[in-house]
Amino acid sequence: MYIELKNISKTIKGTKVLDNINYVFNSGKVYGIQGKNGCGKTMLMRVISGLIRPTEGTVNINGSILWKDMTFPSSIGTLIENPAFIDSYTGFKNLKMLASIKGNIGDEEIRTALTRVGLDSDDNRKYRKYSLGMKQKLGIACAFMEYPDIVILDEPINAIDKDGVILVREILNDLKKRDKIVIIACHDAEEMKILADEIIQMERGKVL
Ligand SMILES: Nc1ncnc2c1ncn2[C@@H]1O[C@H](COP(=O)(O)OP(=O)(O)O)[C@@H](O)[C@H]1O
Ligand SMILES: [Mg+2]
Repeated sequence: MYIELKNISKTIKGTKVLDNINYVFNSGKVYGIQGKNGCGKTMLMRVISGLIRPTEGTVNINGSILWKDMTFPSSIGTLIENPAFIDSYTGFKNLKMLASIKGNIGDEEIRTALTRVGLDSDDNRKYRKYSLGMKQKLGIACAFMEYPDIVILDEPINAIDKDGVILVREILNDLKKRDKIVIIACHDAEEMKILADEIIQMERGKVL
């Protein structure tokens, strides 16, 4: 499995936020996008996820071209910027509703995903009562619970406590073993060294 970015550029209102990016991602690896605020990490993740269309260039996923052969990568889980869930549902109910779209996993797998991020699967609190870190954890659980081919996590350890960070490391290692393509962004260079196999340094829309 691979994702090949070819000459990817994105111009928004005359500003080039992504500038001629070429890169190949392979399965069984964690890729870490690193760089200052505003350098284009989130934008690049949106392009790979099919959430925004590049102005130029192609995203090739296993021989299928995004925006041409398909509208959306067929097997992907993402947490990009803030997680968005239904306020009046519990974490479990939110994941259950989302899992029902594909119908690949049942209650047991959802509970396992919640436990793996350090959330209590029997917690009756509604999402609106969740702390920032709990919301982030739910977002991570949602991204990997179905074990899609591609997992994209934008700043996954933001707002997450030390114990949570260790859980995230374990999840990333497991995804790697399962031969997934994992792409994360993180501005903490030290943590990135631990989390990622390959670091992609970005600066002003370019991959260095
Ligand atoms: N919706 C938007 N409209 C216009 N410009 C945007 C938008 N979102 C982000 N940008 C700009 O794109 C650039 C890259 O942003 P982003 O990818 O979010 O950076 P980061 O590396 O911090 O994730 C920044 O200059 C930002 O101001
Ligand atoms: Mg960002």
